[in-house]
Amino acid sequence: HDRLISVDDLNPLDIQILFERAEHWLGINRSPDKKHDVLKGLTQINLFFEPSTRTLASFELAGKRLGADVVNFSASNSSAKKGETLADTARTLAAMRPDMIVVRHQASGAASFIHAETSIATVNAGDGMHSHPTQGLLDLFALTRRIGDVGGKRVLIVGDILHSRVARSDVGMLNLLGAEIRLCAPPTLLPTDVDRWGAEIFHDLDEALEGCDAVITLRLQRERMSGALIPSEREYFHFWGVTERRLEFANPDCVIMHPGPMNRNVEIDSALADHPERSLILDQVEAGVAIRMAVLEQLGTRARRNSGDIA
Ligand code: CP
Repeated sequence: HDRLISVDDLNPLDIQILFERAEHWLGINRSPDKKHDVLKGLTQINLFFEPSTRTLASFELAGKRLGADVVNFSASNSSAKKGETLADTARTLAAMRPDMIVVRHQASGAASFIHAETSIATVNAGDGMHSHPTQGLLDLFALTRRIGDVGGKRVLIVGDILHSRVARSDVGMLNLLGAEIRLCAPPTLLPTDVDRWGAEIFHDLDEALEGCDAVITLRLQRERMSGALIPSEREYFHFWGVTERRLEFANPDCVIMHPGPMNRNVEIDSALADHPERSLILDQVEAGVAIRMAVLEQLGTRARRNSGDIA
């Protein structure tokens, strides 16, 4: 592959190979010698039009630990602020001859557009409500490391599914890996096509939690909502907030996840988010660096081979 735009670009074998490489890099990241030269000589541009803590920092660390030259562009400091179109920004950056572009943008389809405009290896770091494939990979990598093969396991995603590219990527991954998927949300925060997602739909959280092996909570994305859609935080926590008491409906070993950034005591009880056994939230962050190293390693190696072919 020379692109990772959505989990549709992956098959189960791709995922297995990426998980094996991520396991390797996770071990390296825990050692004192983190710096390697797999991507030496290659240039990676991180082009972020939306705010990010985890994704940007982990793509930057991943590229640097693999020896790439990494350049970060954020929208607030770029000429997009002066009216430059996405196509002109893409062509301008492409003229500087990077080997990989990592892009986050508020518009669904932006990453695919940049790849089509530039023909440069592209990773989608989140495009609107569409997709966040490395988040899907890291979530399932972290979950598999904890509970083993997710095939046949019951996984619940609860929260603002309508606006969530993470939910779409997690569902894509869970379907590819054969999990039993449950979704729970207020009716106003479910997409109209959710019947075609291969998941069982719930509105009552206690019912949805029954027999679950893992629960993925999602942030209320107020920045993508308007007017009547916005529920009050207290009301939301009362009906859809995941708490330790509520987890009694799930399997005794049920783990809890959140892609971050989280709103404590809105979608997840603060003590549960910090729970030493149940919470995988920081495992997800650690997995994120390793998964992004695995993805960049694959794309960079291919980009190097292709440029060698041309030369
Ligand atoms: N999960 C995630 O994408 O977090 P950031 O917005 O901080 O990158």
